[in-house]
Amino acid sequence: MSHSPSFLIFSGRSHRELGERIANCMGSSLGDLSFEDFPDGEIGVQINENVRGRDVFVVQSMARRPNFYLMELLILIDALKRASARSVVAVIPYFCYARQDRKEKGRVPITARLVADLLERAGVSRILTMDLHTEQIQGFFNIPVDNLYARPAFVEAICGKGIRDLTVVNPDIGSVKLGRAFASDLGADMAIINKRRLDAERVEANALIGEVADRDVLLVDDIYSTGGTLKKACGVCRSLGARKIYAAITHGLIIGDTLASTDVEKLFITDTVSFSREDLSEKIERVSVAPVFAKAMLCVIHDASISSMYQHCSPKVSV
Ligand code: R5P
Repeated sequence: MSHSPSFLIFSGRSHRELGERIANCMGSSLGDLSFEDFPDGEIGVQINENVRGRDVFVVQSMARRPNFYLMELLILIDALKRASARSVVAVIPYFCYARQDRKEKGRVPITARLVADLLERAGVSRILTMDLHTEQIQGFFNIPVDNLYARPAFVEAICGKGIRDLTVVNPDIGSVKLGRAFASDLGADMAIINKRRLDAERVEANALIGEVADRDVLLVDDIYSTGGTLKKACGVCRSLGARKIYAAITHGLIIGDTLASTDVEKLFITDTVSFSREDLSEKIERVSVAPVFAKAMLCVIHDASISSMYQHCSPKVSV
């Protein structure tokens, strides 16, 4: 009998680099699997090593081609369950459809709930994800969901950048809880912008509650998609006399070409989503969250507390 660790880590195709980084942080490497897609567009998967009785992690960020990567993840889970894995933990750095989490108007779906049902039905034992758009999505599952935070990694990256007299600004009401935690960690003030979404691609932002005149600003949010929210928020802060404007945003979907024309000094963004052309921008500073996922996965393996990971992460420094 071999003395290999009881766990195995596999990665789907959405962001293999992150899978490798996580495995590396755990002193391990990715499990062997292959994909052979059919000419009609169907996904084919083959697990090339024994998983019987093993605890398995599958890393798949559901970004860029969410429908394809969701289906690929479901197929991977099915293959692992049928190969007698003891447990299958889905590690989903970016959870797609999270913004469709309620019926805001008549005759619309709650697609985040549908995604949860699909994952559970496929046989997943636990979900590890990061900065879910709303934490209530955990309640769509009847299995454990651990929502990890990128904030400590951002705070570490931001400290020492010479940012002075900082106000943390929430670009909308939805990010207030996140902003409050950042402000507390960084010993900063907080402000909130009044934003209204006009449609999937356009937002309107005007008034700001708080003080940004003659202060450096850190805008915090969970998602950068079209960049409309960040651009408008930068405009509001600048018009009210902000000095340097920084942003910390967890999931960089970065659709289109908006960053160049956005009045931001530096955008801190994690690696939950694979890189795009926009990542070549000098304005972007990547913050890897692979160590955070690796730590949480080790907690799962050793039945240790995941929330205790954050107990020593609040520097309470004034930047
Ligand atoms: C919305 O509630 C989210 O937290 C983000 O503010 C939003 O998804 C960003 O989208 P965009 O970059 O397209 O404005």
